[in-house]
Amino acid sequence: MKLYSAMLLKAQNEHYAIPHFNINNLEWTKYILEECEANKSPVFLGVSLGAAKYMGGFDVIAGMVNGLIKDLNITIPVMLHLDHANNVEDCKKAYDAGFRSIMIDASRYSLEENIKMTKEVSEYCKDALIEAETGHIGGTEDNLTSEVYYTTIEDSRVFLNNTNIDMYAPALGSVHGIYKGEPKINTQRMQEISTTFNIPLVLHGGSGLPENILKECIKNGVCKINFNTELQLAWNKSVRDFINNNIAVYDPRKIISSGEESLKKQVKTYIGILGSKNKG
Ligand code: 13P
Repeated sequence: MKLYSAMLLKAQNEHYAIPHFNINNLEWTKYILEECEANKSPVFLGVSLGAAKYMGGFDVIAGMVNGLIKDLNITIPVMLHLDHANNVEDCKKAYDAGFRSIMIDASRYSLEENIKMTKEVSEYCKDALIEAETGHIGGTEDNLTSEVYYTTIEDSRVFLNNTNIDMYAPALGSVHGIYKGEPKINTQRMQEISTTFNIPLVLHGGSGLPENILKECIKNGVCKINFNTELQLAWNKSVRDFINNNIAVYDPRKIISSGEESLKKQVKTYIGILGSKNKG
């Protein structure tokens, strides 16, 4: 068993989910780590390819996260996670830089190609937790919008029989970004996938899903839930209010950190819903 698998198996056995929060910069990473530590919750720090480019690259991010863990005396389990990498090369680079959780997202390709790319990533990134997606989650991420395709049981069977992944993100109706209309998650198929294949499931597009749906998903085998948009909305609102009300302030530290409290509040709320408090 991989060193980090225990984290997922504990969540699966104890019926909670580990939060995955996307990071964009030093401040967000610091706030998320501090709040997760205060709640003793394990955490995945998700880095999209767009965010990796924005922050300078995988080595910068790994250095920043390791530095924060040390300097802030963070004791909870922290998984630095590459989110939705759509090519093998970036997965290898992130792994070499120290990421120990990698999502290869070849869901835009045929199932055969998806399997081939996922296998190549698992073979190279031997010590990392590997996440993969079938169907297509869709919605808006890194400013790109795409269609949703539901995962089928048969595709799951073929995919999981031919790969060796640690967590599985079937597309079952959740979307990235803001939901248009009422979210409809196929929790029945989620349960079927979870019981048939006994693999920890990942729910993407956690933002905007009500508490009862998030909990229903956890009941049906979800062990990791990804949140990005809701943190952005919370931070954005506070920073805008601060700027509007403090026209004379120009210190970037004051401006950026005016979103700290609301971001932390959102993180705490999700930890409460997911049941990951005191699990780290
Ligand atoms: P949201 O932005 O909808 O929360 O989705 C985040 C996500 O799934 C990242 O992989």
